[in-house]
Amino acid sequence: MSIENGKADFPTVPDTTGSDARTDAPILEARHLRKYFPIRGVKLFGPKSVVHAVEDTSLALYPGRALALVGESGSGKTTIARLLARLYEPTSGSILFREKPVQGSLGLKEYRRHVQLVFQDPFSSLNPVHDVRYHLSRPLRIHGHVRKSFQEREQILTLLRRVSLSPAEQFITKFPHQLSGGQRQRVAIARSLATRPNVLLADEPVSMLDVSIRLDVLNLLLHLKDEEHLALLFITHDIASARYFAEDTLVMYAGQSVEGGPSEEVIQQPRHPYTRLLISAAPDPDRLGPDGQKAAPLPARGEIPSFLYGEGETATDAVKAESVGKS
Ligand SMILES: Nc1ncnc2c1ncn2[C@@H]1O[C@H](COP(=O)(O)OP(=O)(O)O)[C@@H](O)[C@H]1O
Ligand SMILES: [Mg+2]
Repeated sequence: MSIENGKADFPTVPDTTGSDARTDAPILEARHLRKYFPIRGVKLFGPKSVVHAVEDTSLALYPGRALALVGESGSGKTTIARLLARLYEPTSGSILFREKPVQGSLGLKEYRRHVQLVFQDPFSSLNPVHDVRYHLSRPLRIHGHVRKSFQEREQILTLLRRVSLSPAEQFITKFPHQLSGGQRQRVAIARSLATRPNVLLADEPVSMLDVSIRLDVLNLLLHLKDEEHLALLFITHDIASARYFAEDTLVMYAGQSVEGGPSEEVIQQPRHPYTRLLISAAPDPDRLGPDGQKAAPLPARGEIPSFLYGEGETATDAVKAESVGKS
């Protein structure tokens, strides 16, 4: 993968070799995805403004492997998850499931059975007026996994046990307000497992949880990935957890993917300056510089550039206009 103008030309997950090598095809693939959001009501005259949330991003997910999508807040990570979950239509580019392009609302129900999204905020993703049983019975019913009510109860208890909520018999009747953040996120994960998916898109699944329980929830996801051969997209702003958690890492900056590859390689030999900045921002007491001495911190980060472009304007035009304005 070559990197030009600070941007990788096709930053998908490159091939790996050795025992860890993939032999199978990607289950979910994004090719040159773009998502622009028009901004309404900002200007009365002149061209309309557009937010370039995602610019030309490609990635691939494989069964039994995790891909970490790393970047600061506002870099386009959630938009990618929503595009892959087909909650948004891409402005351009394509999504392939089992090597077949997915389009419009065709086969959406079936697609959602296979590709599930775990939201960042377990406090708003569960409905406060319904108990755990309701949250877990809905996907089981919608996707036709249960015929009789005793089967349903057994399946819900099994789901709760799979996410280590025990005794499951007690959790089944609880309401969201009776659960801690970690327990809510486990219920949300159980809900996404109810459809028996092949792909789990986890959007910063632990960032809103108490630090002390983050590792438990991450380990649960790791366990599910390994045991059930799930393809996992793990979204995080913390590059250190990407190394622990995911075989492959893709770094996002201002809506663009700037670097991707096996996590160990990306973190040990980062090629893009932004990746280096992310690594320097992650706390690591053992990090040493090239001379074996403790590495000096990199200088403070600048602001993420504006994503607001005039209609029809490209990233290069916008950068030119900004530098002219400054001079
Ligand atoms: N529905 C939307 N309408 C307009 N702009 C949006 C919308 N969703 C996201 N954006 C913008 O797109 C950019 C990327 O957002 P997001 O994907 O949420 O980033 P991240 O998850 O990395 O924090 C941000 O500038 C955000 O304000
Ligand atoms: Mg986000």
